[in-house]
Amino acid sequence: MDAIVLLKEDHKTVEALFKRFEQAGERAHVEKRRLVDTITKELVTHAYIEEEIFYPAARAKVPETGDHVLESIEEHHVVVWMLSELKDLDPADEHFTAKVTVLIENVRHHVEEEEKDWFPQVRSAMGRKELQELGERMAEAKADAPGDPLAVKSAKA
Ligand SMILES: [Fe+2]
Ligand SMILES: [Fe+2]
Repeated sequence: MDAIVLLKEDHKTVEALFKRFEQAGERAHVEKRRLVDTITKELVTHAYIEEEIFYPAARAKVPETGDHVLESIEEHHVVVWMLSELKDLDPADEHFTAKVTVLIENVRHHVEEEEKDWFPQVRSAMGRKELQELGERMAEAKADAPGDPLAVKSAKA
């Protein structure tokens, strides 16, 4: 599996979950809690494989995208802290949906920057073989991802 294809598939998975959250009724607290737990698992796993494997490899291969990598890590930082707050927040709390809404905005912005500006540069710098190999490593590393959002490296960035 090509690394960039894998990451884009993850982006699609979370986008579908975001849409379900946005369509959930105001009082659908049980469904919203479940969706946020699934979103957390998906995003933490995704951030983990990007930070452990993809970002360092991309930075080494395309040093001129270094600023992109650093900004992306700061964006992950905000996302994992928001996820850690949502973990203990009651979906009936008036802050819950507001927090998820801002989380979704942040992630959409982040994904757009990755896909539009940065990934194409990485794709043209890396060969197909290298992207395949990275993709395989990332697919395997998913099993090692932490459950706790704050266990991802960017939480301490
Ligand atoms: Fe990312
Ligand atoms: Fe991503």
